[in-house]
Amino acid sequence: MAFHIPDDKLAEIRRRADIVDIISERVMLKKTGKEYSGLCPFHAEKTPSFSVNPDKQVFYCFGCGAGGDVFGFIMKSEGMRFEEAVVWLARRYGIELPTRKMTPAQKEMISRKERIFALNRRVMGFYTDCLLKGTDAAAARNYLKKRRISKQIIEGFKLGFAPDSWDRLLRFLARSKVNPDLAVEAGLVVPRKTGNGYYDRFRNRIIFPIIDAGGQVIGFGGRVMDDSKPKYLNSPETPVYHKSKTLYGLDAACRRCREAGSVFIVEGYFDLLALHQHGIENSVATLGTALTNAHVRRIKGYAKKAYLVFDGDAAGIKAAMRCAPVFMAESMSASVILLPRGYDPDSFVFEHGPESFLSLAKDADGIVEFLIEQAIESHGSGISGKMKVVSEIAPVIGAMTDGIARTEYARYLADRIGADPGAVLDKILKNTGPGSVHTSSGLQRPGASINKSGTQDVGTRRIERMIIAMMIQHPASIKDVLSRDVLSKFTDAKLKELAGKIIEFPPTDQGDVSLLMNHLEDESDRQAVASMAMGAMGDTGIKADMRWNERSCKGLIDQFLAGCTKINNDFASRIREAEANNDQELIRQLLSEKQKQLSRRAGH
Ligand code: CTP
Ligand code: MN
Repeated sequence: MAFHIPDDKLAEIRRRADIVDIISERVMLKKTGKEYSGLCPFHAEKTPSFSVNPDKQVFYCFGCGAGGDVFGFIMKSEGMRFEEAVVWLARRYGIELPTRKMTPAQKEMISRKERIFALNRRVMGFYTDCLLKGTDAAAARNYLKKRRISKQIIEGFKLGFAPDSWDRLLRFLARSKVNPDLAVEAGLVVPRKTGNGYYDRFRNRIIFPIIDAGGQVIGFGGRVMDDSKPKYLNSPETPVYHKSKTLYGLDAACRRCREAGSVFIVEGYFDLLALHQHGIENSVATLGTALTNAHVRRIKGYAKKAYLVFDGDAAGIKAAMRCAPVFMAESMSASVILLPRGYDPDSFVFEHGPESFLSLAKDADGIVEFLIEQAIESHGSGISGKMKVVSEIAPVIGAMTDGIARTEYARYLADRIGADPGAVLDKILKNTGPGSVHTSSGLQRPGASINKSGTQDVGTRRIERMIIAMMIQHPASIKDVLSRDVLSKFTDAKLKELAGKIIEFPPTDQGDVSLLMNHLEDESDRQAVASMAMGAMGDTGIKADMRWNERSCKGLIDQFLAGCTKINNDFASRIREAEANNDQELIRQLLSEKQKQLSRRAGH
């Protein structure tokens, strides 16, 4: 690890940060026996193959092979390094980490995001003070009144006001002894192009703090109060703000999304606030950007079904069209609510009330059906119209990752327009190649991760992996591995090293592999250990429900050691044969080959 965190601290974090708690903030988990399962947040799927085991404190996806411990989960889902994940969890659980042993560069690296979070929180306080107490904020308060935003919403969403000044925030930061470089990095102030100094990014705007699901202030949005341009200004990309992953209101919405099982997705700040104000709290907003796969994955952790709410104009239909493949690729079910012309969610709920809004949801078409109807409406059902409808819808159906759904929808489309189902399916399959699907990265065959090294004989390595699995799944076997000196016969250097680590940091009696995980540097090793701890055996040939006991462990070790002797025996008989034929060349080859295999066994 790049910097050392004492084992007792990691253990403390792990004791407090239960893996089920942490993961269930992002994945809907269902208890099944001793484990929990849900839809994998790391690849698109419809049936759950993602499991979490609280005894072993690991997660593993039988679909894509992602796996690890609580730190690994945070690393993967937040895109953090190990150190950052440790700090993130420590902070969440109020555990102090010793910083004495870190170098200044390490402290700097870890604390960068932390410091931006802290700064953003402080600045959020500054903006809310300006709104609520500022003598120059009357116009801002009036604007919010005009937009009918309630006091509770203003407070709940911590709305604020950036005064009409180039340096009001700068002066506040100077008083608070904040380094301007940090404020630049956080996107709050901008360096002047000429000369020295900085100026405030947000001026004379209503401020919307953007808060992530963990409660951190990651950025800000700001709206002018008149017709000037740009109407909205958002934080730039910063180490903590990535607009293509961010959903406004998620923090406030996630609990209700879980309860309702569904989420409304709108496009604007005020739309989101208006829905919350009318009690429709399972709502989030994308912020001036098209919906991405990352957005959908995020949402999938909270809700099974999404309602996309669009303004009832051509732009709304286009937007639905653009989102559709994303939902298909992520296998999330989505319906479209197209508001009456001239309305956006904000004006609609204020005018017609939440019941009318919810009844639109009840009648909403699934996204594919919706697009088909729209396409028919715009192209007609003549021959050329039908062709246009098919070419418009084919990429959407083609983006489905579920083959059965693809065929079913192809048939539905063909039926609906009276076309030949086979021809429609053909057209769709042409749209199914790589590139048409929004791929999920990092797909890996389960159990394949430790199968990379070297060119050694596959069978031997397989049995070496089985031994490792045995040590993880049945730690009692470790003493035999030691006493029979099994490790010294390993041919695969990487596997040998991993086995050594298992001996050094064995799983507990409950199978908890936390300590071991702490000492594995390679992501691929951690995944492999998680997969084995969960009983996924990849290509080792071990059945998932394998019951280890003294006999089966002994059998495996016997088999492995016998294989080692067999190499010797095999060579002996082949050399004898070559000698009988007086084939000097073959004898030389066999001897050198034998030497190679034996020295690999010895681990050189
Ligand atoms: N947006 C943005 N930058 C812009 C315009 C819009 O980031 N220059 C984002 C904002 O998040 C905005 C959303 O896109 O809320 C939708 O924009 P738009 O439809 O123009 O505005 P409304 O949300 O209806 O805004 P308002 O009701 O305040 O006019
Ligand atoms: Mn609006």
